[in-house]
Amino acid sequence: MTEIKSGHNAPKPLTADEIREMTPEQATIAAAAADGIHIVHRRNRFPIPGTKAEKRSERAVALTFLISGLAGIGFIVAFVALPWHWHLPGTPQNFKYFTPVLGGLLAVMLIFMGVGMVLWAKWLMPEEEVVQDRHDDPTTEEDVLLTEATLLTGLEDTGLPRRSMLLKSLGLAGGALAAVPLVALVGAMIKKPGDALFHTLFRPDKKMFPQSGGHVPLVTADFQQVGPDTLEPGGLLTVFPGVHKKDSEGYDGVTSASSPTLLIRLLPGQKVHARPGQAHYGWPADSPEYVAFSKICTHAGCPASLYEHQSSKLLCPCHQSQFEVLEDAKPVFGPASRSLPKLPLMVQKGADGLLHFYAAMDYQEPIGPGFWERP
Ligand code: FES
Repeated sequence: MTEIKSGHNAPKPLTADEIREMTPEQATIAAAAADGIHIVHRRNRFPIPGTKAEKRSERAVALTFLISGLAGIGFIVAFVALPWHWHLPGTPQNFKYFTPVLGGLLAVMLIFMGVGMVLWAKWLMPEEEVVQDRHDDPTTEEDVLLTEATLLTGLEDTGLPRRSMLLKSLGLAGGALAAVPLVALVGAMIKKPGDALFHTLFRPDKKMFPQSGGHVPLVTADFQQVGPDTLEPGGLLTVFPGVHKKDSEGYDGVTSASSPTLLIRLLPGQKVHARPGQAHYGWPADSPEYVAFSKICTHAGCPASLYEHQSSKLLCPCHQSQFEVLEDAKPVFGPASRSLPKLPLMVQKGADGLLHFYAAMDYQEPIGPGFWERP
């Protein structure tokens, strides 16, 4: 068993030639001494390489790195594969394991990586006690050579060049550790929302509404149809697509987040200056008395429903954006920068003989605040 001890005596200055003739271990001790570091005690834990005890220690350390690496891979798989959508209360909430599973796997990965590092240093690297003096001298060529030898000895001490099992398991754990921060980015690209944000439940559906040619009726929150007689002049009503059927996530026409729509009856004499291509979106198409806009503020998604019918302004209470209804809900004050999307309206006679409002087609612009994929 090799045991090296050195005292606190001041070292004799070495020449570059003397250093070149030393073994790496001798040079390490000389480097430490030259730098005011005194190796009080240094012992190689396994002076005879390849013993059973050394292999056992190596396998144990490799196992911790392997567990760390597998936990990292598990994190990536869980991030992509586990359900994470929030659903309406009363419907299955299968997203609730997403964050705990990710947190648990991340913890296992980091803990086992740390434990592996500590065990490696404690079980496989030489045991060493050192004492260091302070000094402020500039670096000499001899110092550079000695530092180089110290680094090489340090690498040799880790055993990496001859411990391939450790090297591979550490590579797996290190790779997983490096990949985890990328998962949020890559996983988010895999979980793209597709075109879901470009459609609402106002999209015509001939199977669901065969009597109206597929056009979706406008209803109140209790699914009552609305018609031209529902509102007084200057009035406003929040309406929804009359879709009763719940989708796979438990939403129907009233609870779907993109549905709320403001149906506005203008005062006599008020005229809307429509945007190009949207002049016929109101009702009647040639001289609209009714217009309908998305209620979801284009700034940050609050409901913009404070309507001042005399000034024809719609106000969003969250950050005070104002929309001019007679300019097709163009933002005229506040942080919103995009007009509220306009719903094309039409009227049909129902089975009860009364006129009812329908969506002539789906919204032609994305609802609510902009997101990174929108044109
Ligand atoms: S959400 Fe409407 S102004 Fe900010």
